[in-house]
Amino acid sequence: MQLQGKRVLLAVTGSIAAYKAAHLTRLLVKEGAEVQIIMSTSALDFITPLTLSTLSKRPVYHQFHKNETGEWNNHVELGLWADLFIIAPLSASTLSKLAHGNSDNLLTATYLSARCPVMLAPAMDLDMYQHPSVRANLDTVEKHGNILLEAESGELASGLSGQGRMMEPEHILEKTIQLLKKSKDFEGKKIMITAGPTQETIDPVRFIGNHSSGKMGIALAKNLANRGAKIELILGPSQITISHPNIKISPVTSTHDMYKAAQAVHPQMDICIFAAAVADYAPADPAKEKIKKNEENMSIILKKNVDIAASLGAVKKDGQIHIGFALETNHEEENAQTKLKKKNFDFIVLNSMNDAGAGFKHDTNKVTIFHQSGKKQVSDLLPKSAIAELIIDTLKKQLDTEN
Ligand code: CTP
Repeated sequence: MQLQGKRVLLAVTGSIAAYKAAHLTRLLVKEGAEVQIIMSTSALDFITPLTLSTLSKRPVYHQFHKNETGEWNNHVELGLWADLFIIAPLSASTLSKLAHGNSDNLLTATYLSARCPVMLAPAMDLDMYQHPSVRANLDTVEKHGNILLEAESGELASGLSGQGRMMEPEHILEKTIQLLKKSKDFEGKKIMITAGPTQETIDPVRFIGNHSSGKMGIALAKNLANRGAKIELILGPSQITISHPNIKISPVTSTHDMYKAAQAVHPQMDICIFAAAVADYAPADPAKEKIKKNEENMSIILKKNVDIAASLGAVKKDGQIHIGFALETNHEEENAQTKLKKKNFDFIVLNSMNDAGAGFKHDTNKVTIFHQSGKKQVSDLLPKSAIAELIIDTLKKQLDTEN
């Protein structure tokens, strides 16, 4: 009974996969969860409330009022009651409403009121699932901090075969157990994360920058926020963003700005993660006016930027944990070990450019974690979200040994 005492709000929308919600309900109840089901109106065409209320042992709601008494089904209370909100299956239509804040039914109003983590399990035909508008909506709901359970591949109700099948209930159960087990293990912790690139001004229209997307730092922020931590995310200019009640974003541009923002919050932090790809140098004397192309050759004098991790590492207090990253192309282990010591990190995560399937262009990564104690952990080649999970689990162990 791994979900004893946990409250799961399960929302079902109009999709052929709605029948799988019955099986998911059984699995959740069997593990000891209290399951409250809500349905969209179109889900009623696919599965009956009677089936779901029998399996969940609770009345099923699909409108703003109860039929018998006319009493209000309070969507705010439902949203606050739950430890986890799962929407499975999620149809393209409800997805679009979630992405745009539309609250025309009990399900979408509850979604807007929920404060707990939300897991979304879309189910669609393969062409629908790949449509740019659906992909854009999926992207938006992920940015809003939801956990997306990407559809699985296989035979679809249309007779076509491809990605679009709702994640199997057994897999959703596994994700639920994992999430709820860890849902509060960073509660009360204040964590600063630097993420993204920095930009250094050359003149009013140009800058020196780099290709960092900020993905890793944002993935860490999201995972930790879902586990109860309060995050100060100091984010350089990134295409990606996130909104989450536990994440406060301070947008910055230059290394100097990033340092100032980090320095201001550092004394109050329990944990600092330095995931930003900080520019090592900046133009010594940025031009006030746009530089004209008068000369055949030109050079810009650069001066060394402040090292944020090293500066804050030098004033690290007892009990504070600092984590660093290193991306190396040669003498990887030696360079990572040097940075670990020099910047006073508790551990450093080395991204190797030399492993097949790892690095910038892949959705997978392989990392080695070096600890102050001399311990070394090598990961398998894993999806980037699993790498974020691994880093956070390592952090949790570190936290437990410090306390
Ligand atoms: N870092 C930082 N401030 C800097 C440079 C780096 O906070 N000015 C942090 C990074 O966020 C990362 C770690 O230090 O966690 C290592 O960054 P990296 O760029 O690999 O190391 P550098 O010290 O810049 O060394 P080099 O570029 O010479 O490899």
